[in-house]
Amino acid sequence: MEKTVVKCFKNGPYEIQGDVEITDANGKKVSQDGSGTYHLCRCGGSSKKPFCDGTHSRLHFKSE
Ligand code: FES
Repeated sequence: MEKTVVKCFKNGPYEIQGDVEITDANGKKVSQDGSGTYHLCRCGGSSKKPFCDGTHSRLHFKSE
């Protein structure tokens, strides 16, 4: 089994690489099948939640 890797970008999203299934709050699958790379919003400003759309830069999001 391939290892799943989660990386925290400074002042940006979480990057998830590997075979994962991502669902919305209602349990609806929002990720694609198979291994991939996903960027999840952690600033709260994305219009494509749970995915990052780059808004963190405009908001000057600071991760501590
Ligand atoms: S972390 Fe990128 S839009 Fe929120």
